Amino acid sequence: MTPMEMLLSRASTDHLAEPAPSAAQLSEILAAAMRAPDHGKLRPWRYVVIEGDARPLMAERIVASMQRMDAEVPEAKITKRRQRFSTMPMILALGMHLRPDHKIPLWEQEMAVAAAAMNVLNALHATGFGGVWVSGDVVDDPVLAAEIGLPAPHKLAGFLFVGTPSGKPASPRRPDPADFTAYWTGAPVTFAADKD
Ligand SMILES: Cc1cc2nc3c(=O)[nH]c(=O)nc-3n(C[C@H](O)[C@H](O)[C@H](O)COP(=O)(O)O)c2cc1C
Repeated sequence: MTPMEMLLSRASTDHLAEPAPSAAQLSEILAAAMRAPDHGKLRPWRYVVIEGDARPLMAERIVASMQRMDAEVPEAKITKRRQRFSTMPMILALGMHLRPDHKIPLWEQEMAVAAAAMNVLNALHATGFGGVWVSGDVVDDPVLAAEIGLPAPHKLAGFLFVGTPSGKPASPRRPDPADFTAYWTGAPVTFAADKD
């Protein structure tokens, strides 16, 4: 695969089987995260690896968090989330080590975390693995964040489910980039994507 073929063939998937990346493979994948643009070199990304027997432990923390965030969360949702967190080959909790009082605005710090996460997804794909970024209202739960090791003001940006893609590769239809691109020549631009 050429580098462009690699980028243009990535798709998220939660159909994930063993193996997950080894420690050495994960280290290389996360080296790609360290290439993300990062104003002020704050390195705001943190990765918490959850694998093996830690997964059911995390699943129970997630369930408790869901119940904290929504006292009426449906049982079916709990069962599904418990099952996913217990069985995904590997989970990476995406942490944001935020510095609210820094001269670099918070939103720029958060964007650096997101850019790094995208590099992780691409690096997973480039090395034969796959994954998906998931969130849910548990990412706003300060108790869960602290249990993971991200006490306020730090936050969760979500979780990456990671493993080896199983089944038919996902190839969702993608939009035409032309609809999201405009050339500015002096007057405000408009986008085809925004036309009714
Ligand atoms: C911050 C963030 C949180 C997300 N949370 C969820 C989620 O909780 N559940 C979900 O199905 N998709 C979630 N997504 C979307 C998926 O990660 C993925 O982008 C989507 O399934 C489309 O797949 P694609 O990456 O191949 O376009 C989230 C994406 C981002 C960037």
